[in-house]
Amino acid sequence: VAPLKVGIAGLGTVGAEVVRLIETQSRVLAGRSGRGIRVVAVTARSKAKKRGIDLRGVEWAKDPIALATHPEVDCFVELMGGAGDPALSAVDAALGAGKSVVTANKALLAKHGIKLAKSAEKHGGALNFEAAVGAAIPVIKTLREGLAGTGINRVYGILNGTCNYILTRMEQEGLSFAECLKDAQRLGYAEANPSFDVDGHDTAQKLAILASLAFGTKVAQSAVYVEGISSIAPEDLRAAADLGYRVKLLGVAVRTAKGIEQRVHPTMVPKSSSIAQVMGVTNAVTIDGEGIPPITLVGPGAGGAATASAVVADIADVARGIRANPFGRPVSHLHDTKKAPMERH
Ligand code: NDP
Ligand code: HSE
Repeated sequence: VAPLKVGIAGLGTVGAEVVRLIETQSRVLAGRSGRGIRVVAVTARSKAKKRGIDLRGVEWAKDPIALATHPEVDCFVELMGGAGDPALSAVDAALGAGKSVVTANKALLAKHGIKLAKSAEKHGGALNFEAAVGAAIPVIKTLREGLAGTGINRVYGILNGTCNYILTRMEQEGLSFAECLKDAQRLGYAEANPSFDVDGHDTAQKLAILASLAFGTKVAQSAVYVEGISSIAPEDLRAAADLGYRVKLLGVAVRTAKGIEQRVHPTMVPKSSSIAQVMGVTNAVTIDGEGIPPITLVGPGAGGAATASAVVADIADVARGIRANPFGRPVSHLHDTKKAPMERH
């Protein structure tokens, strides 16, 4: 069987790890996918930058669109970030050309996910984004495939590694917000614009994606109430601790009589609760399904290696020929968030 030919746009924290992982795990991947996976072309802003990866024999495409529509590329992997161009037009062009797309870009999906899913449906390519929520945690597949037969009442959790890392170090080491954020950036956890993390928007984007999968709503970041953590000081965390609480930035999507409520805000959680034990860059997502006890998934929520793990799994799905409806059902079956009551399973 011919290998799957991959083109990668974006060779930063995540993209460089994806190139490395495809190389180091090539035998495992070929065994699991039944065919090889080969990076044939890449692009980024700077061709000259040293990235510590071996790109010998790999073509450098002149820009993301040229890569997305490259005749040799079967699967376009978008790891540049941003809800606008060039990510949007490159993903759109790849899908329009009938190619499969893998992305970790929650900002893009939260804004244009429905349009892109429609294009994937029309042209037959896959649109996979496991890495967009919870990095290495397979939460997209859990909601979309694992719980396809279960009605969901609530999905909530810690969805931003940077914020949880900052809150943990501020509480445990009494460090300032600014110092902790700087370390999160150095470790490759934060977004290019870290206000997306600390002001709660990244959590809101991820929550909108999870809500779509859980409740069959159209992904819409605008439907999420958002409050971040940037005004929290070490004294606030100490005051909460004195009362037996810890502060966590939670994203909560819940079915109510009026429709699906989606909110992101700092929350005081009892120190004895399991969510209070989730520390550092770790994320945790709890899914309350009808007729079954809650399921909680916990794991590394940011960072190059953790994110690349999910990106490569998505590429392996393309190699295997697995193609799911991106948001769990045909786009024509997705509801507006504000319409109530939502469908019950
Ligand atoms: P980085 O900023 O580290 O890397 C971005 C890459 O995209 C760089 O290689 C950059 O090129 C390239 N790029 C940016 N703009 C352009 C452009 N206009 N044309 C061509 N190339 C461009 O980001 P990350 O790797 O951290 O994140 C990538 C994506 O993954 C984002 O969508 C992010 O939200 C998502 N993500 C990140 C996680 C993480 O922990 N870091 C976790 C989960 C998802 P150059 O290197 O030359 O500057
Ligand atoms: N900036 C994001 C975070 C990356 O810290 O959670 C993972 O999506």
